[in-house]
Amino acid sequence: MTSRRSAATMLLTNQSLSVNHSDALVFFGATGDLAFKKIFPALQSMVKHGTLDVPVIGVAKQEWTIDQMRDRARSSIEQHGGGIDERAFEKLIGLLRYVDGDYSDPATFAKLRSELGPAKRPAHYLAIPPVLFGTVVESLGASGCADGARVVVEKPFGHDLKSAQLLNRTLHTVFPEAQIYRIDHYLGKDSVENLIFFRFANAFLEPIWNRNYIESVQITMAENFGVAGRGKFYDATGAIRDVVQNHLLQVIAFLAIEPPTLNYEEALRDELSKILRTMPALTPKQVVRGQFRGYRDEPGVAPDSNVETFAAVQLEIDSWRWAGVPFVIRAGKNLPVTATEALVKLRRPPLGSVRGRNYFRFRLGPDLAIGLGARIKQPGREMASQSVELSPVKVDQNDEMEAYERLLTDAMRGDSMLFVREDVVEAQWTIVEPILGDVTPVYEYEPGTWGPKEADKFADDVGGWHNPK
Ligand code: BG6
Repeated sequence: MTSRRSAATMLLTNQSLSVNHSDALVFFGATGDLAFKKIFPALQSMVKHGTLDVPVIGVAKQEWTIDQMRDRARSSIEQHGGGIDERAFEKLIGLLRYVDGDYSDPATFAKLRSELGPAKRPAHYLAIPPVLFGTVVESLGASGCADGARVVVEKPFGHDLKSAQLLNRTLHTVFPEAQIYRIDHYLGKDSVENLIFFRFANAFLEPIWNRNYIESVQITMAENFGVAGRGKFYDATGAIRDVVQNHLLQVIAFLAIEPPTLNYEEALRDELSKILRTMPALTPKQVVRGQFRGYRDEPGVAPDSNVETFAAVQLEIDSWRWAGVPFVIRAGKNLPVTATEALVKLRRPPLGSVRGRNYFRFRLGPDLAIGLGARIKQPGREMASQSVELSPVKVDQNDEMEAYERLLTDAMRGDSMLFVREDVVEAQWTIVEPILGDVTPVYEYEPGTWGPKEADKFADDVGGWHNPK
């Protein structure tokens, strides 16, 4: 229980009161892709920012030496971490340990336990394929490595509702819910956190943020690349599981939640859970799936695959605030640009000559911007209007803390606000469950276009698609 503090302060400062800092960080999958692209860079930044000063133990089965592990850390940071910071890197290398062994062998966990030495509150980060979660979690429990520990779990969290529930049960055999940190890296993005900040820190929004003024909400997550060597993973996943069930439902939830006004740490996650449970489960009529031409030739992809690389999904929020407001999500690979934007359109004023709409444009990636669409008078004699965007605010993200650094730092501090709680992940699966798999046709689209034309049937709901630039 926290002391009485306003939830707004907690939310807007993200200062949970927990001081129960982890005293070691263990990461499974230390030689893997995620560690290479995201974790080592995050670790160097954490050292640099003074938030990592405990042993860091990589675990993997590669028959590597600690020197090979260090070389891997170096090239990871050179390639993906903006370069080596000599002081921070030296320190990181000093903290780094390596345990080599099979995850199904109890000896691996005995080695880990002895490497943990006097650590009493380790954080175990599972950057490994979900099929291995059960084995690792059980062995952490049996070896004593889980005593007093936290566990950080990567997405995908399950494959559908049933497997997510099973995974939750498996984790709970060893870790209580309060010690489980499920990662959705979108929650670690400044641009996404800014959605709730912007909504609740600005008085001018409060009266209009509801069905009376908002006409529609659309989110486009476009990527101008294909499956980028991840064919095998992607073909078992598809766009709905990969980014809609998690990242984009979280974005919708952030746009739609009620202000978390309570004075306790779970206030935000309670609101997220509540809003997600007001979204009725989708029906096949509410989805259009697409696949880019050439996908089936990608390595690791089945030649007759019907997995979607594009999805357009029409959602409702069955709440007092949002009744009748259409929410539409579009996400796809091999679209014309890489950009994620949410567009919130306001209703038209009762003036016949004004055809456009006011809108808020939230650019969530790769950079952060907020634009406000307005109508002004066209120059000249006529009283005609034209659309402009009031100077968009662009936030310089050079110093942005990368999402992984943010989330790992929070997990080690015991701050779970930006992690996905059990009921939240299950609510997300419940929403998408009926549209998973091959229940609707998959339409082909040309790489570099905005997806199959069949998806246009949802465009009218939102006054036409907004294509981010
Ligand atoms: C990941 C998905 O979770 O998010 C990828 O597995 C996707 O397919 C990525 O490309 C997008 O993340 P970001 O941070 O680049 O928008």
